[in-house]
Amino acid sequence: MSPVWVLVGVLLVLVPLDPTSSQSTDPSTADLVNRNADFATRLYRAVAGRTDDNVAVCPFALSAGLTALASGSEGQTRDQLLQGLTLNGLSAQTLPGTSQGAAVFPGQSLQVSQSYLDLVQTKYGGKAQTVAYTMPHEAMDTINSWAQDQTGDRVQDLVSQLDPQTQLLVASAASYQARFSPPFNASLSQEERFLVDSYHVAMVPMMSRTGKFSLAYDPAVRAGVLKLPMADGTAMLAVLPDEDVDIGAVEDELTAEKVQSWIRRLKKT
Ligand SMILES: *[C@@H]1O[C@H](CO)[C@@H](O)[C@H](O)[C@H]1NC(C)=O
Repeated sequence: MSPVWVLVGVLLVLVPLDPTSSQSTDPSTADLVNRNADFATRLYRAVAGRTDDNVAVCPFALSAGLTALASGSEGQTRDQLLQGLTLNGLSAQTLPGTSQGAAVFPGQSLQVSQSYLDLVQTKYGGKAQTVAYTMPHEAMDTINSWAQDQTGDRVQDLVSQLDPQTQLLVASAASYQARFSPPFNASLSQEERFLVDSYHVAMVPMMSRTGKFSLAYDPAVRAGVLKLPMADGTAMLAVLPDEDVDIGAVEDELTAEKVQSWIRRLKKT
């Protein structure tokens, strides 16, 4: 499954697969990567369409949580979850598992089969634990401690209020840290203006590097695309709209096919 990270302002997409390595990926993995990329871009458009603020989303963590939930559901609920995740048509056996990121917290009054709790822990590497929502503060402590463990304390307060009538809570939390390869030279960083949004400017340390980069230009949306490889084999795609282009117009065109077409067009420049 592919982690795809997107930031608005400059739009950043983190993709897992180098096109050159895709020949060695078996068809079912490639199919899952395409399905997850479709979910990721639809999620991104939905989130970015509601705000002018900068947003950061991790579709991978969300799909892990919702897939774990879908595995315990039936009928229309399951169909709708899988359709939302672009996983429709897959059997229970072919639903992707994950190594971390999801947790299921049933309330004490909810009957959840042991086999489902086992599945969450084995297939999704997740946590399954009954909590007492009638004591919301203790329940929150349990859930927030899980998120802190998952993310090396980067996510502190995943939930800040809980309804005592909660029956089931599906949580997801993930953190990702990788080094740029080649690395930036920190002594070349300089304070520069950064547009937080249309009205606010902040001075921030901007990294700097000269060299040959994989670049593409998409005349249809009038945006450049820059690929920055990471040491772990993933890469960051920075989408750089021309100066007079509204970033919202680029976001509206963001689909899995679009991202893949950018990756195919990249050339060392
Ligand atoms: C980083 O940049 C400084 C200043 O130009 C230079 O002296 C140093 O050698 C560079 N370090 C690396 C690892 O390239």
